[in-house]
Amino acid sequence: MDIKEQYGELSAHYPELTDRVAVVTGGAKGIGLGIGLRLAREGMRLVIGDIDGESLASTAAALGDLGATVLAFHGDLSQSEAIEALFEQTGEQFGGVDLLVNNAANLDRFRFLDTHEETLERQLATNVRGPYLCSLQAAKMMKAQGSGNIVHISSVGGLRAHWRGFPYDVTKGALDAMTRAMAIDLAEYNVRVNAIGPGAIRTRRSLPDDNPVTQEMAGRIPLRRFGLVSEIGSVVAFLASSEASYMTGQVLYVDGGITAQLSPPGQKL
Ligand SMILES: NC(=O)c1ccc[n+]([C@@H]2O[C@H](COP(=O)([O-])OP(=O)(O)OC[C@H]3O[C@@H](n4cnc5c(N)ncnc54)[C@H](O)[C@@H]3O)[C@@H](O)[C@H]2O)c1
Repeated sequence: MDIKEQYGELSAHYPELTDRVAVVTGGAKGIGLGIGLRLAREGMRLVIGDIDGESLASTAAALGDLGATVLAFHGDLSQSEAIEALFEQTGEQFGGVDLLVNNAANLDRFRFLDTHEETLERQLATNVRGPYLCSLQAAKMMKAQGSGNIVHISSVGGLRAHWRGFPYDVTKGALDAMTRAMAIDLAEYNVRVNAIGPGAIRTRRSLPDDNPVTQEMAGRIPLRRFGLVSEIGSVVAFLASSEASYMTGQVLYVDGGITAQLSPPGQKL
């Protein structure tokens, strides 16, 4: 992958983030990679945790080539042992954590009547227990430091139901509630907690832009296109910066207008 060609040189927008430490879960590809790249551009030192060892190795190497300082952690971040190990290594190598981005998720979606108890439990483990346990480890370090930022990557599905979106939407709704609950509890330690609800974002899993299905889907989005991973990364950087110093407990939708509309463009209700 030619990261430089896709994203350009590393250059900071928020100087206060330089040399700060960010943990990004699920940062090996997709939106997590876009977030990692943006934070690297801000001069942040990165810890990238992912279950996909191959993508993790190539992403860490590519970020390293750009001059970023990266600790790659390979593990299943729905499990407490792996999460404890990740934060132990982060503390040993970087001495603390300033920003946690809970991005890793299981994106499977099903029709309600096709699901079983295990479907729900598997998704809750990655999408809720993982972010909860990562946040718990990070918040303890942030409390000791006297500052910190946590950003959950949720979804428009936390607010409105996808067609056949069970139990994914349930987990994202829980993450939104966790954002508010954590924000209230951690405010006294100068730790801010916010979430981002992406709409349809173009990743390596997406069909090509000229595919008729993609075009039909894009036509139903007010801005008439899918979002870019860099457009999620920029909001993460903003939330972590001092520009957002009075924001906590919020879910920001970065969705081209999906959650604002009552019916798709050109269609009366
Ligand atoms: N792509 C979209 O359109 C979209 C829309 C709304 C929300 N989101 C959210 O954005 C986030 C990233 O989604 P994406 O589209 O980049 O998905 P993706 O599948 O491309 O990337 C997810 C990453 O998380 C990793 N991961 C998954 N389970 C893990 C685990 N148990 N432990 C460690 N790593 C794990 C994967 O290996 C992968 O690298 C998710 O939280 C998703 O719900 C995505």
